[in-house]
Amino acid sequence: MATTITLTGAGGQIGYALLFRIAAGDMLGPDEPVRLRLLEIPQGLRAAEGAALELQDGAFELLEHVEVTDDPAVGFDGANLALLVGARPRGPGMERGDLLAANAGIFGPQGSAIAAHAASDVRVTVVGNPANTNALIAASAADGVPAERFSALTRLDENRARAQLALALDAPVASIRGVTIWGNHSATQFPDISRASVDGEPVAERLAQRVGDVRAWLEGTFIPRVARRGAEIIDVRGSSSVASAANATIDHVRDWTGGTDRRHGPDGWTSAGVVSHGEYGVPEGLVSSFPVRAIDGDWRIVEGWEPDAPARARMSASIAELAEERDAVRRLGVL
Ligand code: NAD
Ligand code: LMR
Repeated sequence: MATTITLTGAGGQIGYALLFRIAAGDMLGPDEPVRLRLLEIPQGLRAAEGAALELQDGAFELLEHVEVTDDPAVGFDGANLALLVGARPRGPGMERGDLLAANAGIFGPQGSAIAAHAASDVRVTVVGNPANTNALIAASAADGVPAERFSALTRLDENRARAQLALALDAPVASIRGVTIWGNHSATQFPDISRASVDGEPVAERLAQRVGDVRAWLEGTFIPRVARRGAEIIDVRGSSSVASAANATIDHVRDWTGGTDRRHGPDGWTSAGVVSHGEYGVPEGLVSSFPVRAIDGDWRIVEGWEPDAPARARMSASIAELAEERDAVRRLGVL
Protein backbone atom coordinates (compact mmCIF):
# COMPACT_ATOMS: atom_id res chain seq x y z
CA MET A 1 0.00 0.00 0.00
CA ALA A 2 1.24 3.47 -0.83
CA THR A 3 2.20 5.91 1.92
CA THR A 4 0.06 9.05 1.97
CA ILE A 5 2.14 12.16 2.60
CA THR A 6 0.66 15.57 3.29
CA LEU A 7 2.89 18.55 2.62
CA THR A 8 1.79 21.96 3.83
CA GLY A 9 3.28 25.00 2.16
CA ALA A 10 3.59 22.89 -0.98
CA GLY A 11 3.56 25.99 -3.18
CA GLY A 12 6.52 27.50 -1.34
CA GLN A 13 10.25 27.18 -1.80
CA ILE A 14 11.01 24.23 0.46
CA GLY A 15 7.92 22.49 -0.85
CA TYR A 16 9.25 22.78 -4.38
CA ALA A 17 12.62 21.37 -3.33
CA LEU A 18 11.00 18.49 -1.41
CA LEU A 19 8.28 17.23 -3.72
CA PHE A 20 10.43 15.86 -6.49
CA ARG A 21 12.80 14.09 -4.13
CA ILE A 22 9.88 12.45 -2.33
CA ALA A 23 8.40 11.35 -5.66
CA ALA A 24 11.79 9.97 -6.73
CA GLY A 25 11.93 7.75 -3.63
CA ASP A 26 14.68 9.60 -1.75
CA MET A 27 12.62 9.79 1.44
CA LEU A 28 10.96 6.39 1.75
CA GLY A 29 13.09 4.33 -0.58
CA PRO A 30 12.85 2.97 -4.09
CA ASP A 31 10.18 0.37 -3.31
CA GLU A 32 7.62 2.54 -1.54
CA PRO A 33 4.86 4.11 -3.66
CA VAL A 34 3.58 7.47 -2.44
CA ARG A 35 0.39 9.51 -2.64
CA LEU A 36 0.86 13.24 -2.16
CA ARG A 37 -1.55 15.74 -0.70
CA LEU A 38 -0.45 19.34 -1.22
CA LEU A 39 -2.05 21.67 1.30
CA GLU A 40 -1.84 25.41 0.74
CA ILE A 41 -3.66 28.60 1.59
CA PRO A 42 -5.66 30.15 -1.27
CA GLN A 43 -2.80 32.50 -2.25
CA GLY A 44 -0.44 29.56 -2.62
CA LEU A 45 -2.74 27.24 -4.56
CA ARG A 46 -1.59 28.19 -8.07
CA ALA A 47 2.04 27.56 -7.21
CA ALA A 48 1.12 24.18 -5.70
CA GLU A 49 -0.95 23.35 -8.79
CA GLY A 50 2.03 24.22 -10.94
CA ALA A 51 4.23 21.90 -8.90
CA ALA A 52 1.60 19.17 -9.34
CA LEU A 53 1.75 19.62 -13.12
CA GLU A 54 5.50 19.26 -13.00
CA LEU A 55 5.17 16.16 -10.85
CA GLN A 56 3.06 14.67 -13.66
CA ASP A 57 5.75 15.62 -16.15
CA GLY A 58 8.35 13.85 -14.05
CA ALA A 59 6.56 10.55 -14.77
CA PHE A 60 7.68 9.31 -11.35
CA GLU A 61 6.94 5.62 -11.19
CA LEU A 62 6.48 5.61 -7.41
CA LEU A 63 3.98 8.48 -7.48
CA GLU A 64 0.43 7.14 -7.45
CA HIS A 65 -1.61 10.27 -6.89
CA VAL A 66 -1.36 14.03 -6.25
CA GLU A 67 -4.10 16.18 -4.78
CA VAL A 68 -3.92 19.95 -4.30
CA THR A 69 -6.22 21.59 -1.78
CA ASP A 70 -6.66 24.49 0.60
CA ASP A 71 -8.97 22.50 2.88
CA PRO A 72 -7.11 20.92 5.84
CA ALA A 73 -9.81 18.22 6.14
CA VAL A 74 -8.99 17.08 2.60
CA GLY A 75 -5.28 17.80 2.92
CA PHE A 76 -4.74 15.57 5.97
CA ASP A 77 -7.21 12.87 4.96
CA GLY A 78 -5.58 9.49 5.51
CA ALA A 79 -2.09 11.00 5.98
CA ASN A 80 0.54 8.56 7.24
CA LEU A 81 3.15 11.30 7.19
CA ALA A 82 2.56 15.03 7.51
CA LEU A 83 5.30 17.52 6.72
CA LEU A 84 4.29 20.89 8.16
CA VAL A 85 6.40 23.31 6.17
CA GLY A 86 3.95 26.17 5.52
CA ALA A 87 4.30 28.88 8.13
CA ARG A 88 3.95 32.59 8.49
CA PRO A 89 7.34 34.22 7.91
CA ARG A 90 8.50 37.08 10.07
CA GLY A 91 7.52 40.34 8.33
CA PRO A 92 8.93 43.84 8.76
CA GLY A 93 8.31 45.20 12.25
CA MET A 94 6.96 41.88 13.50
CA GLU A 95 8.00 40.97 17.03
CA ARG A 96 8.71 37.40 18.11
CA GLY A 97 5.37 37.39 19.98
CA ASP A 98 3.53 38.40 16.78
CA LEU A 99 5.25 35.57 14.93
CA LEU A 100 4.24 33.06 17.61
CA ALA A 101 0.65 34.32 17.51
CA ALA A 102 0.46 34.09 13.71
CA ASN A 103 1.87 30.58 13.72
CA ALA A 104 -0.32 29.43 16.61
CA GLY A 105 -3.23 30.32 14.31
CA ILE A 106 -1.83 27.90 11.71
CA PHE A 107 -0.43 24.99 13.74
CA GLY A 108 -3.30 24.72 16.25
CA PRO A 109 -5.97 24.15 13.58
CA GLN A 110 -3.61 21.87 11.64
CA GLY A 111 -3.05 19.76 14.76
CA SER A 112 -6.85 19.44 15.17
CA ALA A 113 -7.28 18.54 11.51
CA ILE A 114 -4.56 15.87 11.82
CA ALA A 115 -6.36 14.35 14.81
CA ALA A 116 -9.65 14.35 12.93
CA HIS A 117 -8.56 13.16 9.48
CA ALA A 118 -5.07 11.60 9.38
CA ALA A 119 -4.38 7.86 9.49
CA SER A 120 -4.05 6.27 12.93
CA ASP A 121 -0.29 5.81 12.41
CA VAL A 122 0.35 9.44 11.42
CA ARG A 123 3.81 10.91 12.07
CA VAL A 124 4.26 14.66 11.85
CA THR A 125 7.45 16.56 11.07
CA VAL A 126 7.40 20.30 11.68
CA VAL A 127 9.74 22.41 9.57
CA GLY A 128 7.99 25.81 9.59
CA ASN A 129 9.49 28.17 12.14
CA PRO A 130 9.58 28.51 15.08
CA ALA A 131 9.64 24.75 14.49
CA ASN A 132 9.92 23.43 18.07
CA THR A 133 7.11 25.58 19.41
CA ASN A 134 4.96 25.03 16.32
CA ALA A 135 5.34 21.28 16.95
CA LEU A 136 4.29 21.80 20.57
CA ILE A 137 1.22 23.77 19.45
CA ALA A 138 0.21 21.19 16.83
CA ALA A 139 0.74 18.26 19.21
CA SER A 140 -1.31 19.97 21.93
CA ALA A 141 -4.20 20.52 19.53
CA ALA A 142 -4.14 16.97 18.18
CA ASP A 143 -6.45 15.28 20.69
CA GLY A 144 -5.92 11.55 20.77
CA VAL A 145 -2.64 11.58 18.82
CA PRO A 146 0.35 10.83 21.09
CA ALA A 147 2.68 13.84 21.38
CA GLU A 148 5.57 11.49 20.48
CA ARG A 149 4.21 11.39 16.92
CA PHE A 150 5.27 15.03 16.45
CA SER A 151 8.83 16.09 15.90
CA ALA A 152 10.58 19.29 14.85
CA LEU A 153 13.41 19.48 12.35
CA THR A 154 16.88 20.04 13.81
CA ARG A 155 18.59 17.72 11.36
CA LEU A 156 19.63 20.70 9.27
CA ASP A 157 21.63 21.96 12.27
CA GLU A 158 23.22 18.54 12.70
CA ASN A 159 24.13 18.37 9.02
CA ARG A 160 25.61 21.85 9.21
CA ALA A 161 27.66 20.88 12.26
CA ARG A 162 29.01 17.72 10.60
CA ALA A 163 29.92 19.68 7.49
CA GLN A 164 31.77 22.34 9.51
CA LEU A 165 33.73 19.65 11.36
CA ALA A 166 34.59 17.94 8.08
CA LEU A 167 35.90 21.26 6.74
CA ALA A 168 37.91 22.00 9.86
CA LEU A 169 39.45 18.51 9.88
CA ASP A 170 39.82 18.28 6.12
CA ALA A 171 38.02 14.92 6.40
CA PRO A 172 35.13 13.47 4.40
CA VAL A 173 31.78 14.30 5.94
CA ALA A 174 30.96 10.57 5.96
CA SER A 175 33.77 10.03 8.47
CA ILE A 176 32.12 12.36 11.03
CA ARG A 177 29.59 10.75 13.37
CA GLY A 178 27.85 11.45 16.63
CA VAL A 179 27.25 15.21 16.58
CA THR A 180 24.26 16.17 18.74
CA ILE A 181 22.01 19.22 18.62
CA TRP A 182 20.35 20.20 21.90
CA GLY A 183 17.52 22.67 22.47
CA ASN A 184 15.78 25.00 20.06
CA HIS A 185 16.18 25.35 16.29
CA SER A 186 17.40 28.90 16.83
CA ALA A 187 20.60 30.77 17.59
CA THR A 188 20.52 29.41 21.18
CA GLN A 189 20.87 25.78 20.05
CA PHE A 190 23.86 23.81 21.32
CA PRO A 191 25.76 21.79 18.71
CA ASP A 192 27.64 19.31 20.89
CA ILE A 193 30.73 17.46 19.70
CA SER A 194 31.58 15.78 23.01
CA ARG A 195 30.68 12.34 21.63
CA ALA A 196 31.48 13.01 18.00
CA SER A 197 34.04 10.92 16.18
CA VAL A 198 36.06 11.11 13.00
CA ASP A 199 36.93 7.73 11.55
CA GLY A 200 36.08 6.30 14.96
CA GLU A 201 38.47 8.61 16.90
CA PRO A 202 37.22 11.39 19.19
CA VAL A 203 36.77 14.58 17.16
CA ALA A 204 38.23 16.72 19.95
CA GLU A 205 41.60 14.96 19.71
CA ARG A 206 41.88 15.50 15.98
CA LEU A 207 40.65 19.07 16.33
CA ALA A 208 43.40 19.84 18.82
CA GLN A 209 45.98 19.01 16.14
CA ARG A 210 44.29 21.44 13.75
CA VAL A 211 43.01 24.34 15.80
CA GLY A 212 45.08 24.20 18.99
CA ASP A 213 42.73 25.43 21.69
CA VAL A 214 39.63 23.31 21.03
CA ARG A 215 37.39 25.06 23.57
CA ALA A 216 38.22 28.49 22.15
CA TRP A 217 37.52 27.23 18.62
CA LEU A 218 34.22 25.69 19.67
CA GLU A 219 33.06 28.79 21.53
CA GLY A 220 34.39 31.37 19.10
CA THR A 221 33.99 29.70 15.71
CA PHE A 222 32.11 26.43 15.53
CA ILE A 223 29.09 26.99 17.77
CA PRO A 224 28.27 30.49 16.48
CA ARG A 225 28.83 29.38 12.87
CA VAL A 226 26.40 26.47 13.18
CA ALA A 227 23.86 28.27 15.34
CA ARG A 228 23.76 31.32 13.07
CA ARG A 229 24.07 29.49 9.77
CA GLY A 230 20.41 30.15 8.97
CA ALA A 231 21.03 33.90 9.26
CA GLU A 232 24.23 33.58 7.20
CA ILE A 233 22.31 31.86 4.41
CA ILE A 234 19.64 34.56 4.47
CA ASP A 235 22.35 37.20 4.30
CA VAL A 236 24.24 35.60 1.40
CA ARG A 237 21.32 34.17 -0.62
CA GLY A 238 18.77 36.85 0.12
CA SER A 239 16.28 34.28 1.42
CA SER A 240 16.28 31.44 3.90
CA SER A 241 17.74 28.01 3.25
CA VAL A 242 15.68 25.87 0.92
CA ALA A 243 17.46 22.90 -0.68
CA SER A 244 19.46 22.12 2.46
CA ALA A 245 16.29 22.35 4.56
CA ALA A 246 14.48 20.00 2.17
CA ASN A 247 17.46 17.64 2.24
CA ALA A 248 17.45 17.59 6.04
CA THR A 249 13.71 16.90 6.04
CA ILE A 250 14.33 13.90 3.79
CA ASP A 251 17.09 12.68 6.15
CA HIS A 252 14.87 13.16 9.21
CA VAL A 253 11.87 11.26 7.84
CA ARG A 254 14.01 8.53 6.30
CA ASP A 255 15.62 7.86 9.68
CA TRP A 256 12.31 8.11 11.57
CA THR A 257 10.48 5.67 9.32
CA GLY A 258 13.37 3.40 8.36
CA GLY A 259 15.30 3.34 11.65
CA THR A 260 18.50 5.13 12.63
CA ASP A 261 20.46 1.87 12.64
CA ARG A 262 20.41 1.79 8.86
CA ARG A 263 22.57 4.88 8.50
CA HIS A 264 24.02 5.46 11.93
CA GLY A 265 24.57 1.87 13.11
CA PRO A 266 22.88 0.17 16.10
CA ASP A 267 24.67 2.43 18.62
CA GLY A 268 24.40 5.58 16.53
CA TRP A 269 21.94 8.43 16.85
CA THR A 270 20.73 11.58 15.18
CA SER A 271 19.06 14.73 16.50
CA ALA A 272 15.42 15.76 16.41
CA GLY A 273 13.08 18.04 18.32
CA VAL A 274 10.88 15.69 20.34
CA VAL A 275 8.64 16.05 23.34
CA SER A 276 10.47 15.90 26.66
CA HIS A 277 9.41 13.62 29.50
CA GLY A 278 11.96 15.36 31.73
CA GLU A 279 15.09 13.87 30.13
CA TYR A 280 18.29 15.85 30.84
CA GLY A 281 16.27 18.25 33.00
CA VAL A 282 14.23 19.59 30.07
CA PRO A 283 10.79 20.46 31.47
CA GLU A 284 8.18 17.90 30.56
CA GLY A 285 6.15 18.79 27.49
CA LEU A 286 8.68 21.08 25.78
CA VAL A 287 9.73 20.04 22.27
CA SER A 288 13.51 20.16 22.46
CA SER A 289 16.24 18.73 20.30
CA PHE A 290 17.84 15.63 21.82
CA PRO A 291 20.03 12.76 20.66
CA VAL A 292 17.50 10.21 19.39
CA ARG A 293 17.33 6.76 17.89
CA ALA A 294 14.42 5.70 15.71
CA ILE A 295 13.30 2.16 16.41
CA ASP A 296 10.17 0.68 14.79
CA GLY A 297 8.98 4.14 13.76
CA ASP A 298 9.35 5.73 17.21
CA TRP A 299 11.94 8.27 18.33
CA ARG A 300 13.66 7.22 21.57
CA ILE A 301 15.77 9.76 23.42
CA VAL A 302 19.28 8.49 24.11
CA GLU A 303 19.67 8.73 27.87
CA GLY A 304 22.39 8.36 30.45
CA TRP A 305 24.92 10.91 29.22
CA GLU A 306 26.40 13.37 31.69
CA PRO A 307 26.99 16.72 30.00
CA ASP A 308 29.75 18.81 31.61
CA ALA A 309 29.09 22.22 33.18
CA PRO A 310 29.67 24.36 30.03
CA ALA A 311 27.41 22.02 28.05
CA ARG A 312 24.74 22.22 30.78
CA ALA A 313 24.89 26.02 30.67
CA ARG A 314 24.33 26.07 26.91
CA MET A 315 21.53 23.52 27.11
CA SER A 316 19.86 25.55 29.87
CA ALA A 317 19.95 28.75 27.82
CA SER A 318 18.22 27.11 24.88
CA ILE A 319 15.71 25.35 27.11
CA ALA A 320 14.92 28.68 28.80
CA GLU A 321 14.14 30.13 25.35
CA LEU A 322 11.82 27.20 24.59
CA ALA A 323 10.05 27.72 27.91
CA GLU A 324 9.65 31.43 27.10
CA GLU A 325 8.13 30.58 23.73
CA ARG A 326 5.74 28.12 25.38
CA ASP A 327 4.77 30.73 27.97
CA ALA A 328 4.17 33.36 25.29
CA VAL A 329 1.87 30.92 23.47
CA ARG A 330 0.11 30.09 26.74
CA ARG A 331 -0.52 33.78 27.30
CA LEU A 332 -2.27 33.81 23.93
CA GLY A 333 -4.57 31.14 25.34
CA VAL A 334 -3.45 28.59 22.76
CA LEU A 335 -2.03 25.87 25.02
P1 NAD B 1 7.91 30.05 1.55
O1 NAD B 1 7.37 31.38 2.02
O2 NAD B 1 8.58 29.94 0.23
O3 NAD B 1 6.72 28.99 1.54
C1 NAD B 1 5.81 28.87 2.58
C2 NAD B 1 4.51 28.41 1.96
O4 NAD B 1 3.62 28.09 3.01
C3 NAD B 1 3.81 29.47 1.10
O5 NAD B 1 3.54 28.93 -0.17
C4 NAD B 1 2.54 29.78 1.88
O6 NAD B 1 1.44 30.09 1.03
C5 NAD B 1 2.34 28.47 2.62
N1 NAD B 1 1.49 28.55 3.82
C6 NAD B 1 1.39 29.57 4.70
N2 NAD B 1 0.46 29.28 5.62
C7 NAD B 1 -0.03 28.06 5.33
C8 NAD B 1 -1.04 27.25 5.89
N3 NAD B 1 -1.74 27.64 6.95
N4 NAD B 1 -1.30 26.06 5.32
C9 NAD B 1 -0.62 25.65 4.22
N5 NAD B 1 0.33 26.39 3.62
C10 NAD B 1 0.62 27.58 4.17
O7 NAD B 1 8.85 29.55 2.74
P2 NAD B 1 9.91 28.36 2.70
O8 NAD B 1 11.23 28.91 2.27
O9 NAD B 1 9.35 27.21 1.99
O10 NAD B 1 10.04 28.06 4.27
C11 NAD B 1 8.96 27.49 4.98
C12 NAD B 1 9.23 27.50 6.47
O11 NAD B 1 10.35 26.67 6.78
C13 NAD B 1 9.58 28.87 7.06
O12 NAD B 1 8.89 28.99 8.30
C14 NAD B 1 11.07 28.79 7.31
O13 NAD B 1 11.49 29.67 8.33
C15 NAD B 1 11.17 27.35 7.73
N6 NAD B 1 12.52 26.76 7.70
C16 NAD B 1 12.82 25.86 8.69
C17 NAD B 1 14.05 25.24 8.70
C18 NAD B 1 14.38 24.22 9.77
O14 NAD B 1 15.52 23.71 9.75
N7 NAD B 1 13.51 23.89 10.71
C19 NAD B 1 15.00 25.55 7.73
C20 NAD B 1 14.66 26.46 6.72
C21 NAD B 1 13.40 27.07 6.72
C1 LMR C 1 17.48 27.95 8.85
O1 LMR C 1 17.96 27.37 9.82
O2 LMR C 1 18.07 28.04 7.75
C2 LMR C 1 16.13 28.60 8.96
O3 LMR C 1 15.43 28.09 10.06
C3 LMR C 1 16.32 30.08 9.05
C4 LMR C 1 15.04 30.87 9.05
O4 LMR C 1 14.94 31.79 9.88
O5 LMR C 1 14.14 30.59 8.24
